[in-house]
Amino acid sequence: MDILRKVLLLGAACLLPLPSFAAQPDSQKALIYSDLYSIARGGRLYDNWFKEKGLKPPTQPHPAYPPAGKFRGKKGADWRCKECHGWDYLGVEGVYGKGKHLTGFPGIRDAYRMTPKKLAKILSDEFHGYGPGTLSAADVYDLATFVARGTFPMDHYIDFEKERGMGSVRRGREYYQTVCVGCHGLDGKGEETPPLGKLARENPWEVMHKILNGQPGEDMPALRAFGVQPAADIVTYLQEEMPVK
Ligand code: HEC
Ligand code: HEC
Repeated sequence: MDILRKVLLLGAACLLPLPSFAAQPDSQKALIYSDLYSIARGGRLYDNWFKEKGLKPPTQPHPAYPPAGKFRGKKGADWRCKECHGWDYLGVEGVYGKGKHLTGFPGIRDAYRMTPKKLAKILSDEFHGYGPGTLSAADVYDLATFVARGTFPMDHYIDFEKERGMGSVRRGREYYQTVCVGCHGLDGKGEETPPLGKLARENPWEVMHKILNGQPGEDMPALRAFGVQPAADIVTYLQEEMPVK
């Protein structure tokens, strides 16, 4: 080892113990937000933006929501993106094509070229009506990332006719009993939540969306980084083995 390297190593060793992070608030600026962070946050905003942001729900009904619709003016439900565009991102062509959530509105699956600039224009126009005090530029950025890159064909993972997940029960059980069990328990029954087994049977699309993106405003993790298949496996396990009540 030559002298120069020795000096450099010694220098580096002296630097190590300094508590440098606490003293440098600017170090925050070096954080790099991954696209998956943006997609998952966009997914939670798509689910329920006011809950994710800790805001009170809007008190006025959404201007474009059908007057006869069942969720008009219901605690802001008609302002949630998912209420018009669906948990399966297919709007009227998907699960919301019938039943109490029917609005007749289209999905967002074709909007894979969406940019934050285009979406800002769409969301702030009179039709969508997201004015000041609702979505920030950062929110629109995350929503655009989600719209462009976060949706996927749910019918590859959930059979629409049978309303059944098509994943692996065994793998789903393993994921659930290691990743989810700490918060949701072995039987999936929480104090505030309906049993996860019931939810997964009634609405596998919603559960799939929440596993991938997290629950708005809660500490629940988003499994985005692991791809869609583990989420499908978990949904299938919840449907097949988890108690309904
Ligand atoms: C009250 C119902 C309603 C709500 C709530 C709603 N949308 Fe829409 N959205 C529509 C309708 C209807 C269209 C089609 C309108 C048109 O073509 O002009 C549309 C169009 C879009 C499009 C363009 C789709 C395309 O293929 O070009 C995007 C993207 C979109 N909405 C995203 C969102 C997001 C994100 C939210 C939540 C922040 C949201 N929407 C909330 C009804 C709604
Ligand atoms: C760090 C704790 C935590 C972990 C880990 C966690 N969750 Fe959650 N989850 C929550 C909280 C908190 C809520 C919201 C409160 C509630 O509904 O119980 C929630 C809500 C949900 C909901 C929506 C319930 C509803 O009523 O809308 C589903 C579905 C869900 N979790 C499934 C899962 C699955 C599946 C996993 C594993 C992949 C998981 N969670 C991991 C904390 C967690």
